[in-house]
Amino acid sequence: MADWERPKDLPYPMVWRKFTRTMSDGREHKFRIQDASQDMFDEIYDLFKVHFMTEEPICSVLGCSQCIEINKLISDMVNDEVSLKEMEIYWRSELRRKTLIVCFEEVPDGKDVLVSCNVMGVRTKGNLLKVAATGRALVAMNKIMEHIWLEVAKIYEAFNVDKYLSAYGLSVHRDYRGIGIGVEMLLARTEYCKANKIEFTVTAFTSKGGQRAGEKAGFDFHLSKLYSDIEKDTGVNLTGIKHDCIKDV
Ligand SMILES: CC(C)(COP(=O)(O)OP(=O)(O)OC[C@H]1O[C@@H](n2cnc3c(N)ncnc32)[C@H](O)[C@@H]1OP(=O)(O)O)[C@@H](O)C(=O)NCCC(=O)NCCS
Repeated sequence: MADWERPKDLPYPMVWRKFTRTMSDGREHKFRIQDASQDMFDEIYDLFKVHFMTEEPICSVLGCSQCIEINKLISDMVNDEVSLKEMEIYWRSELRRKTLIVCFEEVPDGKDVLVSCNVMGVRTKGNLLKVAATGRALVAMNKIMEHIWLEVAKIYEAFNVDKYLSAYGLSVHRDYRGIGIGVEMLLARTEYCKANKIEFTVTAFTSKGGQRAGEKAGFDFHLSKLYSDIEKDTGVNLTGIKHDCIKDV
């Protein structure tokens, strides 16, 4: 099947959702979820480095047998410069394909604050995603993800689809957690799919928070796989992982 392209008649960047939340200061704050654009890359990169890589269960433990600072929120992925550079190349390629969405807090009379990003990507049958990897952490991450997508979930066969929207990282800024931004980002994904004429979306939810947000956004869980079994099946060392399983929806 031909590789996917965003419909040419769909405006870009699009705003997908707007919502408000009353926060701890008692005030109502306004938020906007929209397509990411090229000029946002540095902010997105920082958000992922600080608020995702150090906490997402797999990124935070990869190779941790050699990472003595694992309990200090120091992620091996962040310390692995080669993997980080390769992730950056991948994120930039998805940004060019217009498959990243971001959430901003709208600040009256000031600069809007980036509070969340979801890196997504459209997969089509026969075009296997290969995040080019030589860095130790990213090679291990690829091994796990290929195992989940191709050997365990078997999306194309299980759901009889030839394309789907996948995701490679949902990150919410720590100061903005627990107020439903993760759920709103997943709901925005549904709107993104409709407008882009993509009928199906799948995520391997790797953390408890992500799994709960998926449940609340109405995603159906297709399978669940224990990290202990993933370790056995892939040979990747996940010592120290703080969560039980990956859930795929
Ligand atoms: C996971 C993450 C995206 C959730 O974002 P969020 O905006 O805080 O989530 P929401 O406020 O929408 O919460 C949705 C639900 O998940 C629950 N939840 C959030 N974080 C949780 C956690 N760490 N453990 C258990 N439940 C959690 C919330 O309590 C809420 O459920 P409730 O309404 O029943 O209480 C965010 O914590 C994050 O960026 N984590 C680091 C990276 C990561 O793990 N990404 C996801 C990989 S799948």
